[in-house]
Amino acid sequence: MGSTNDVLKAAPNLPHGAIVAADAQRAGRGRMGRPFFSPKDSGLYLSVRYRPADNPALADFVTMGACAASVVAIEKAAGAVPAIKWVNDLMIGPKKIAGILTEGRADPALEKQWIVVGIGLNLFDPSGGFPDDIAARAGSITGMTATAYAENGGDPDDLRTRLLAAMIDGLTDLGQAESPASYADIYRRHSNLIGRAVTLTGAGEPIVGTVTGFDDFGHLKLQMPDGTSKLIRSGELTLRPL
Ligand code: BTN
Repeated sequence: MGSTNDVLKAAPNLPHGAIVAADAQRAGRGRMGRPFFSPKDSGLYLSVRYRPADNPALADFVTMGACAASVVAIEKAAGAVPAIKWVNDLMIGPKKIAGILTEGRADPALEKQWIVVGIGLNLFDPSGGFPDDIAARAGSITGMTATAYAENGGDPDDLRTRLLAAMIDGLTDLGQAESPASYADIYRRHSNLIGRAVTLTGAGEPIVGTVTGFDDFGHLKLQMPDGTSKLIRSGELTLRPL
């Protein structure tokens, strides 16, 4: 399979909440046009297609909701507690263990709109290691290779199946959600940024401030050096050294 997101983008007639999952991708994609390393046997790569016509409220919180649902699924299936790095990276310590890519079609006709959310979960360390360009910041949920996990008495296939089942449950519930509130609670509780000084780089000049929280849609609340508050909707965030 090339990319689970691409499979669902090319399938206009699927019902709300249709999911495609793979244990490898040849052309996994991340945010900002980056590739997403998706080797066989170490990760779980899945996408869900939602129809805004079936749940118009969802578009405003779908990425935050998928992030929160993934945290819950990882905790349930693997017993690990990831932190969320705004906007949509899941971390264990300093290592990114999962990423989320949301794509969609905005159209004046609700019936023609679609949203595809893709989630890449690094379950095990790849047997050949992560590529050099991401090795310093990429990690996995178990923190070990599938072989080491098996040598320690675990069953890699069973863990993958449990994680897939938990993700399907979480993404199916998200498809029915009419309010972001419960997802925002989970998002806030797992954020590793609240109270931290950050530099936000995106369009235009970098913004420096201290994270005070998130609104119900996952937008970042920042206190500026002059004491005023700013709500940030998107951007590429880098932590400022304290
Ligand atoms: C990121 O961290 O930049 C987002 C990564 C998203 C990767 C997932 S894997 C499943 C789905 N298919 C893709 O091609 N991308 C997403």
